[in-house]
Amino acid sequence: MRSSFAEARVDLDAISENIALLGRRASGAQTMGVVKADGYGHGLLPAARALLAGGATWLGTAFIEEAMELRAAGLDAPAIAWIVPPGAPLAAAIDADIDLGVSTRGLIDDIAAAARDLGRPARVHLKADTGMSRGGVTAEYWPDTVAAAARAEAEGLLRVVGLFSHFACSDEPGHPSIAAQIRVFHEALEIADKAGLRPEVRHLANSAATLTLPEAHFDLVRPGIASYGLSPIPGLTGTGLRPAMTLRAAVALVKRVPAGSGVSYGYRYTTDRATNLALVPLGYGDGVPRAATNVGPVFAGGARRTISGTVCMDQFMVDIGDDTVETGEYAVLFGPGDGGEPTAQDWADVLSTIPYEIVTRISPRVPRVYAKDARDQA
Ligand SMILES: Cc1ncc(COP(=O)(O)O)c(C=O)c1O
Repeated sequence: MRSSFAEARVDLDAISENIALLGRRASGAQTMGVVKADGYGHGLLPAARALLAGGATWLGTAFIEEAMELRAAGLDAPAIAWIVPPGAPLAAAIDADIDLGVSTRGLIDDIAAAARDLGRPARVHLKADTGMSRGGVTAEYWPDTVAAAARAEAEGLLRVVGLFSHFACSDEPGHPSIAAQIRVFHEALEIADKAGLRPEVRHLANSAATLTLPEAHFDLVRPGIASYGLSPIPGLTGTGLRPAMTLRAAVALVKRVPAGSGVSYGYRYTTDRATNLALVPLGYGDGVPRAATNVGPVFAGGARRTISGTVCMDQFMVDIGDDTVETGEYAVLFGPGDGGEPTAQDWADVLSTIPYEIVTRISPRVPRVYAKDARDQA
């Protein structure tokens, strides 16, 4: 933390409204609020509460430790952690009623052993690898995994609450892998059904699939990025989603410099005329990518401009020409976009990345401020 006036303002109402909108698009399925990675940078607990307030009935995290934080704060909605590496705190998770994603046959034995020791059944979701080749059990090992889970369930050591998978290319509508993955998921469900498993929820849809693939909604959808108001599909407009995070900092210094002044480390920007430079106290130590040097968009002094020169650890400069900006006035790096400021999508576009990375990388050094209207100057 620090005393300079930089903040990531988070509009929690936007998060609630976004998840409500996604719930209405979910063909009657339940919605899971995905809060991994500190709620995509928006703050784990405030985001989780806003998602539940907006109608999410489940919460999803990558790791058990993230789900434990939800429990420690008293949030008792069903919650799943879907990456469970060797050595993960299984007993603590079972004890805290955290559902476990299972991507290997061996994990079933480990979970069953932990449940036996604890004297309490675990809740698991078996993950099928339907074609992403990341987490999940491949088709070859699926029948054996399902059979092992059914045996452990019969012994009272676990309950198979869910069956799930994840899309590789749902952000590219029409990609042939989408239909293929849905087909393989149906086959996996059928095998599980024949083995006697009766899950409460079958789930496959991330944000892109929630918005564009009703046939993938099943019983539960897991939209992450869209609930934070950002599009999972580049160029997809008219979704009605509202970006929840605004990153801004009060201009710390303004100075007039002559033509030909080299600006910031390495002189990667040189003024072509006498001009005013504004210093914005946010840098790569705050999660502003150094690659935004000379390309990052910023709203400052009433207009949209571009970062001038190298992004430093704690600061960058903006050439504002003959315009003026008062010190203390906010420079906005990104926000909802309706006040002339850039969006996280704009940042992603100039940096050849995705908006997920832009919001998630904002470091803990930047205070999160929770405000109804993220553009308030208060
Ligand atoms: C298993 C799983 N489900 C859902 C999501 C949410 O994805 P998105 O943010 O694209 O909606 C993720 C995120 O990567 C994930 O790993």
